[in-house]
Amino acid sequence: MLGIIFTNLVEMIETEISAEMADEILDEAELSTDGAYTSVGHYPFEDVLAIVTLLSEKTDTPIPDLIFAFGQYLFPKLVAGHQHILPKNATLMDLLVQLDSNIHVEVLKLYPNATLPTFSILEQTSDGIVLEYGSPRQLDTLAAGLITGGSQYFGVEVDIAMNTLSDEPYRVKIDVKIREKVAN
Ligand code: HEM
Repeated sequence: MLGIIFTNLVEMIETEISAEMADEILDEAELSTDGAYTSVGHYPFEDVLAIVTLLSEKTDTPIPDLIFAFGQYLFPKLVAGHQHILPKNATLMDLLVQLDSNIHVEVLKLYPNATLPTFSILEQTSDGIVLEYGSPRQLDTLAAGLITGGSQYFGVEVDIAMNTLSDEPYRVKIDVKIREKVAN
């Protein structure tokens, strides 16, 4: 997994909880490095699991909740670092439609050793899209968090329904409905 994922994960723990918590986890987790991640490095996916598992124990928060929260946190960070990859004046729908055919394709050009999921489009309407997520890393909750982070970024609301289609290979149907924000 790319270093930017690790640096953002550690940064989320530092800013949302505390620098002490981040240090404690990096010290205690059995990691491939001594916890010194750089954004340009590449590290085993198991390290993410080790960090998130410890964080879950220490904060008494279920792992999927943490992965979802991380997706929300990560979205604006990924976008900020890669503005040129986003289509001009893009909406959340544009982004979801182009995830497989464009966005992640560009990501792979930039980081040839990235390990990306697939998102095929099962259905598309004016206000919704049904995607099929496929990845052996089973990060569909991260995808839901990223989509939710994207909705906040673009100022819209989303309803997301997830259904596992198969365990081997791992495939999940992600049904996204996009709504305009209702003014208070
Ligand atoms: C709502 C939109 C997006 C969704 C749902 C999404 C989903 C995901 C998921 C679930 C992963 C984890 C890998 C896996 O599941 O196997 C991932 C990885 C990644 N995505 Fe996206 N993504 C989105 C937008 C973006 C954007 C806008 C960028 C950057 C411009 C980006 C860059 C990356 C990178 C760099 C990785 C890490 C790959 C690695 O660690 O090797 N994604 N994405």
